[in-house]
Amino acid sequence: MNLSAPILNIPLPVIAGALAGAAGQFAIHLHKIRGFYIFSRRLVRKWSSMEKGGTEAGIRSEVKRRNILRAARIIKASQMLRTFVPQRPSIASTIPEPEVQGSDVFEPEKFHHEASEKEQEEMQRKNLTQDLQHFSGPIKLDSDLEKVFEFCRVKNNVKFSDAISFWKQKTAKKIAEGSYGEIYKFEHIDGTERVFKCIPIDGQHAMNSYENISLSVAVPDIVASKLLSDLSEGSNCAAPNFPIIYNISLVRDRFPDLLMRAWWNYKNSPERLRDPAEHPPPDQYPESQSYLTIESSFCGEPLSMKHLQNAWVGVTIMSQIVSALAAAEAAYNFEHRDLHLANILVQDTPAESLKYTIHNQHFSILTVGCHVSIIDFTLSRIYNDKNVYCIGLDDIARGSGDRENARDNVWLNHKTMYQIMGECSKGNRWDKFMPATNIIWLKYMNENILDYLRKNNPENESQMKAFRLLREWNECILGHMSAGDLLQDVISKDNPIMSVHK
Ligand SMILES: Nc1ncnc2c1ncn2[C@@H]1O[C@H](COP(=O)(O)OP(=O)(O)O)[C@@H](O)[C@H]1O
Ligand SMILES: [Mg+2]
Repeated sequence: MNLSAPILNIPLPVIAGALAGAAGQFAIHLHKIRGFYIFSRRLVRKWSSMEKGGTEAGIRSEVKRRNILRAARIIKASQMLRTFVPQRPSIASTIPEPEVQGSDVFEPEKFHHEASEKEQEEMQRKNLTQDLQHFSGPIKLDSDLEKVFEFCRVKNNVKFSDAISFWKQKTAKKIAEGSYGEIYKFEHIDGTERVFKCIPIDGQHAMNSYENISLSVAVPDIVASKLLSDLSEGSNCAAPNFPIIYNISLVRDRFPDLLMRAWWNYKNSPERLRDPAEHPPPDQYPESQSYLTIESSFCGEPLSMKHLQNAWVGVTIMSQIVSALAAAEAAYNFEHRDLHLANILVQDTPAESLKYTIHNQHFSILTVGCHVSIIDFTLSRIYNDKNVYCIGLDDIARGSGDRENARDNVWLNHKTMYQIMGECSKGNRWDKFMPATNIIWLKYMNENILDYLRKNNPENESQMKAFRLLREWNECILGHMSAGDLLQDVISKDNPIMSVHK
């Protein structure tokens, strides 16, 4: 993509057309509030590859299809019944966003354009020339990206030696393969455990089946990571459930030996016999390759059955997630949109409780020894300083199904959630704030926790009490239009592990 092209103050169809052509993979649309709205074809491929061999429509069973439509109708109805009053002194209130009007109305379909075979060939040719230009110098930033970089304090055009200079080198370990990059863990010289997400930008080696992304696609993740990290010490709104971001860099360098050793250790570890590593060796990339690197706090392991031996851990997990989403909604009209179990991390903690603030209302939640973190904002939607940052999810919503899910409960399978979000989206205006998407994922989360606990059969009275509480919540989650409302009307009421400070 030609990142040096100015993309502001140009008629929208021209911007969309030019960038779609140049990128070959994405169309970027800006409306008058200068928000990003990006259609990502690569994400489409990501989801269609998950569905290999399945039907395009995803949902085959008529009963399941009806259940999804019913759930979507309930959510829509609950949205219509509740009138949003921004002035209400409520922990559920959010930021009024400027309405886009008249000729400024954003029409995604107008710009969304399936390229013909001939156009695709042309794009590939252009991509190739651009890649050559691209590799001949550091990544050039257009003015919008420059602003994002400045705001998020992204260090541009640095070397790995700068990005990893404060590591205790022996501690470097690769811990996961993400869709677009690799995740390393290390100990900083100050003794804190940290994570280093390293994503090749516009590279030539696909990660498993996902091609390397362009910088513009990573923008919502960069912005949301930074803003949500700030919530850990916010004053008006605060929640301690998002990773702390220490450093974001755009590195342009040969892949370093330190990380390469960690890469091979991961590849050859006994665990990989069960679950083989798929990514190509990063030393295949040329010295001119750029990487987006995000250094954050280490937040534990993805949520799994073993963390739910105690039903009260389920209660604290739900309480922490609902409160964190409510704080993020209030601060930035935030929707996560991809809150499956691998994006919920849990870590043991000696802290007894965690503190939250939403519009100057303070409350705390008992941890029961477990601190939850929400990660991965690639599909998220966030609003800040008159800009909306998100990608369109139409194709993901259409392409995901529950083919592999033999169970009747549609809320247990994360793939179905994309479809339900699609049913609820306001005429596919993914840029519009629709906090009901948070409700959809909270229902998914609560159903999964209950499912785990049922298999675990809570025995004593205290455990049964926690189980009943989660069951009560489960019945009323869908009657709410946002995490804030759910927190205010349900989670903060009669919750023995939550105390609201007067
Ligand atoms: N801050 C973190 N602390 C601990 N593990 C992490 C952290 N960030 C990512 N991971 C691990 O890496 C995996 C992939 O990271 P994620 O940001 O979700 O990337 P992707 O977009 O590829 O899913 C996560 O499921 C988790 O196991
Ligand atoms: Mg993830």
